[in-house]
Amino acid sequence: MDGIDGKNSRDALVSGNHTLRDEIREYWSDRAATFDQDPGHRIAEGPETEAWRALFCRHLGAGEGRRLLDLASGTGEIARLCQGLGYAVTGLDWSEPMLARARAKLPGVTFLQADAECTMLRDASMDVIVTRHLVWTLVDPAAAFAEWHRVLVPGGQILLVDGDFVSGGWLARMVSCLRGGSSVRDMSRHRKILSQVHFAQGARAEAVAGMLRQAGFVDLRIDRRLGAIHRAQMPQLGWRKSLLRRTEHRYAISARKPDRGA
Ligand SMILES: C[S@@+](CC[C@H](N)C(=O)[O-])C[C@H]1O[C@@H](n2cnc3c(N)ncnc32)[C@H](O)[C@@H]1O
Repeated sequence: MDGIDGKNSRDALVSGNHTLRDEIREYWSDRAATFDQDPGHRIAEGPETEAWRALFCRHLGAGEGRRLLDLASGTGEIARLCQGLGYAVTGLDWSEPMLARARAKLPGVTFLQADAECTMLRDASMDVIVTRHLVWTLVDPAAAFAEWHRVLVPGGQILLVDGDFVSGGWLARMVSCLRGGSSVRDMSRHRKILSQVHFAQGARAEAVAGMLRQAGFVDLRIDRRLGAIHRAQMPQLGWRKSLLRRTEHRYAISARKPDRGA
């Protein structure tokens, strides 16, 4: 693959004009209809919503009408949470079936169809960027982080919630084999995609934080205190997924774009 840049070489791994990006988008589009029913996606009212609110407030402070971009907004669960926290929310996803569900759920929120690695948004047009469960599946995270830095205002904040869903120990592998929910076809598509993305070996918090730093972000904080969220999810996750979740390397990372002139 000498002479081909990272993005193109990964895209070229998929035959013809059908790229890895197309494959990822189609995978999520096919999952849109049942996404909210799969345990761990929909944020339940009550303790789970409170636990997510606590995480977001701990890193971002109060919403106070600030412009927030929810990247890879899916069915709009994080957008809904952030709207409840007082942000002026814009959602962005590249899957039309996901966007249709988010728009039906949150008629007052603008949802845009675009690639999170190339948003088409104006420079310095957002005060806050958040994203849950996108980073692990990015084809070119360095390009994505540079793009998010461009879109934020000086002093703007970012909060990523993600995890390494690959390199768990024997317990994670065992529980993952036992887990229900996804069809065998979904699981094999998921595995195929995962083997080709940048974080094929798992998106470790330290590696993601290092790339954010390289993109120009400062004041990085890695937060592994997601226990309250996972405990609140127990009733919908069931014991297998709940056990798996506690064995996985899951985290939030917050950071800031430096102030103008800093
Ligand atoms: C695991 S779902 C997460 C949805 C939502 N963030 C949540 O936490 O409920 C992943 C979402 O990311 C979207 N996605 C993945 N890569 C993307 C990209 N490069 N640009 C835009 N959306 C992307 C998919 O379409 C899907 O809706």
